[in-house]
Amino acid sequence: RDPVTVPGLRRMKSKRQAIVALTAYDAGFAAALDAAGVDLVLVGDSLGMVVQGHGSTLPVSVDDISYHTACVARGLRSALLVSDLPFQADASPQLALAASTRFLQAGAAMVKLEGAGFKLDTIHHLSEREIPVCAHLGLTPQSVLRLGGYRVQGKEEAAAEKLLEDARAVQEAGASLLVLECVPATLAARITGALDIPTIGIGAGIDCDGQILVLHDLLGLGQGRRPRFVKDFLAEGGSVHGAVEAYATAVRERRFPGPEHIY
Ligand code: KIV
Ligand code: NA
Repeated sequence: RDPVTVPGLRRMKSKRQAIVALTAYDAGFAAALDAAGVDLVLVGDSLGMVVQGHGSTLPVSVDDISYHTACVARGLRSALLVSDLPFQADASPQLALAASTRFLQAGAAMVKLEGAGFKLDTIHHLSEREIPVCAHLGLTPQSVLRLGGYRVQGKEEAAAEKLLEDARAVQEAGASLLVLECVPATLAARITGALDIPTIGIGAGIDCDGQILVLHDLLGLGQGRRPRFVKDFLAEGGSVHGAVEAYATAVRERRFPGPEHIY
């Protein structure tokens, strides 16, 4: 399998080939995902919750993401590796550039950051300096204190229009990819149609250009109340490899997410 590249993701969008994405935090799982043909692997700051056991993503550091990026990179052969800029590592373009350089030198091919607004300058700063950027809109978990919890975003018409405007702005600023988290499926479809860059959905319906899940959720290891968009693929896959393959096939055949997983 040829390595997945940034322009390759754009070609997948134009050919309507669904992009299969998952998170990973170590080499062993990274190798399993790569072997199953996963296109994109994210070292997410969900690390803080599923690996470190915190109640939010806020405690995750640049050192943490660097360490896990290096671990995951050693397990991958073809999948594109994306690393999250953790809380406040994108508070200024300069901080974001320093952290992103470490992630790329540890093996990432792209960095992800949450939000638009003042972050647009950072997206521009990074992409002008040859650092591919994935934006992340909708439910942005680093905003949990302001939001007061994790819930669907963009339900009201004004909020939906703002999200569409932000999506256009992150593309304009230079983002190569956009994660949409917990937004109504109809809105995610509108955004996907309006953009040239691919969208990757989580709780954002079937019409995104790709799908992502947190690995632990896919393996039925989620804690507490299970969000609506989560599916335990281990139940039908029977093994870790089977679960990842079942997920990849369901995403490629546009059978996941189903109507029961959307907002
Ligand atoms: O941190 C993470 O795992 C993420 C994905 C859920 C998109 O940002
Ligand atoms: Na994240």
